[in-house]
Amino acid sequence: MTQQKTWRIGVAGLGTVGAGLLTFLAEHPDFAPAGGKAVVTGVSARSRSRPRPFDISGLPWFDDPVALANSPQTDVFVELIGGSDGPAKAAVEAALSAGKPVVTANKALIAEHGAELAALAEAKGAPLLFEAAVMGGVPAVKMIREALVGDEIASVAGILNGTCNYILTEMEATGRSFAEVLAEAQRLGYAEADPTMDVGGFDAAHKISILAALAFGCAPNYAAAEIEGIAGVELLDIHLARDLGYRIKLVASADRSPDGVLVRVHPSLAPLSHPLAQAGGALNALFIEGRRIGRIFVQGPGAGAGPTAAAVAADIADVMTGAVRPVFQAPATSLAPFTPVDPSKSIGRAYLRLSVKDEPGVIAAVSETLAEAGVSIESFLQKPVENASGVPIVLTTHAVAESVLTAAIDRIAALPAVLDRPRLLRIAKI
Ligand code: HSE
Repeated sequence: MTQQKTWRIGVAGLGTVGAGLLTFLAEHPDFAPAGGKAVVTGVSARSRSRPRPFDISGLPWFDDPVALANSPQTDVFVELIGGSDGPAKAAVEAALSAGKPVVTANKALIAEHGAELAALAEAKGAPLLFEAAVMGGVPAVKMIREALVGDEIASVAGILNGTCNYILTEMEATGRSFAEVLAEAQRLGYAEADPTMDVGGFDAAHKISILAALAFGCAPNYAAAEIEGIAGVELLDIHLARDLGYRIKLVASADRSPDGVLVRVHPSLAPLSHPLAQAGGALNALFIEGRRIGRIFVQGPGAGAGPTAAAVAADIADVMTGAVRPVFQAPATSLAPFTPVDPSKSIGRAYLRLSVKDEPGVIAAVSETLAEAGVSIESFLQKPVENASGVPIVLTTHAVAESVLTAAIDRIAALPAVLDRPRLLRIAKI
């Protein structure tokens, strides 16, 4: 009988995902999906003494994750520190430079430095795997990189941030404001103490930048992403959108056209009956549109110790097979250039909410201004509001170029009866 190979795993970062991985490997000492055995032989984290739900006293401790990556006892380096730069990047570079396989859940690192890390990994013949970086337990990365490599993907779009999805779902369900729901989510530990990465849309932008690179065979280009988070989503818009048959979701999308690639994150309207509108709470959901396969939809937990650790373990299993694939869809040396498309040329439908004086002729003036600007109205709704200085009117438009819409909004905002700049939300192209 041949001896099972033992893979010595160094784990840097013992937060939610690191804890989930150590718990999983401790509870499954027989985890050997590719015939080898994974044994944790070193750990590193910010604090050694912080209380943890598992015992690390028997594991060699490294204050410095770079030293753990360089340790002769580390065959596979698992980076769960997070952050696009700093110790995470230094340690991943050290491991790859030494030709060691790296498994990471770090979306910021891959979205912002993926091309250079892929070049290093491929030059050294070391796998660089990051299934856990996007959609937690849902195997979106492997599906796009491997299973769909025979198709030509035109677009990917979905809900990639569970915290935002939870907040929007709770706002609608309970009638509380963004600030109230966020404060509660932080109290319950669902949202980070500093929620900027999540609610600002940056986490979703990291993830969609990675999916775009995998889907379109280009280098990730996070800097080109257009990003708007959910802090400005008002309860009034959630209710009015619902009256029009829509639900507001934070939608991240990447589209490829002959002009290039457009990556964006926006609060967007999805029809109530659409699967994206029905993915509630902290769920993640993703549509992939392939020219040959057509549409694929996946949904599942995008965060949490169990699902994310399962994705990390699956990458460790891949390492054990010994296979080394290109990090993205194509080798780093032949990735297609990422040509960003000017978002103002993007064509889509929109929702506009205006606050207007309740007086004769206002609706006529608004619709005349839109008509002159070349924007066609699809539906129109005015809600009576008692004792308010302005009344809200909402409308949806037919498909229009964003530059045309923006010019029309400027003109509407200048009308004497319009009290504030109209609120624009895009209707998701799904
Ligand atoms: N903070 C992320 C979310 C999970 O809320 O979806 C990790 O990417």
